[in-house]
Amino acid sequence: MSLRKLAAGNWKMNGRMPQLAEAMALAGAHPSPTVDVLLCPPATLLAPMAQAMLGSAVAVGGQDCHAAVKGAHTGDISAEMLVDAGASYVILGHSERRADHGETSAMVAAKVQAAWAAGLIAVVCVGETETQRDAGETLAVIGAQLAGSLPEGASAQNTVVAYEPVWAIGTGRTPTPEQIAEVHAFLRDKAPDAGIRLLYGGSVNPGNAATIFALANVEGALVGGASLKAEDFGQIIAALQ
Ligand code: G3H
Repeated sequence: MSLRKLAAGNWKMNGRMPQLAEAMALAGAHPSPTVDVLLCPPATLLAPMAQAMLGSAVAVGGQDCHAAVKGAHTGDISAEMLVDAGASYVILGHSERRADHGETSAMVAAKVQAAWAAGLIAVVCVGETETQRDAGETLAVIGAQLAGSLPEGASAQNTVVAYEPVWAIGTGRTPTPEQIAEVHAFLRDKAPDAGIRLLYGGSVNPGNAATIFALANVEGALVGGASLKAEDFGQIIAALQ
């Protein structure tokens, strides 16, 4: 099955109002109706970015949400609030959330439920640490994260899965094509719906994007650093076409 490609940019805790202009330039330059483009800015930029992207082919997403609909959760944001701000996606279970905020797969699964209930598409992240890879535990770790993070009901319509080896994030290091292909074949086999798109993330840049996107079962990328520069992200989008 040939699945529609997705180029997702995760700005993490980067970007303030001046960066919106660059993002808008990207929206205007995005040339292809065959690739979905998603930008996930910090929460402060969600609403203005969604407003700026109206009428373009670029979707906007959050980087996290709380599992509850509302309540006494200082500093958190609900899935419905993301929708109010104009988001249609939310990244959940990113390794930085798992590491910095102690998020377990069970917590991620509860957030995924909340995201679905609000009508958001969840981009669920999985990935091994370098120690786990060296110990030969990669597939076991990823299998457990996937099974634990995806509630019943995951489908091509409500879920995207991103494979992000922790050791490749922001390091300039990437797995070999064989290593990426192995994990993506495993994810394709384990994903509950054959139409769920599988993204690779971790030091994707204009120089390596084409090689990664040529691999079987890779339907796009979750891009961090390179998504902050419209020119670089534009080249990554182009490599997906
Ligand atoms: O969500 C994005 C990933 O963590 C990848 O980040 O492209 O800066 O390595 P990176």
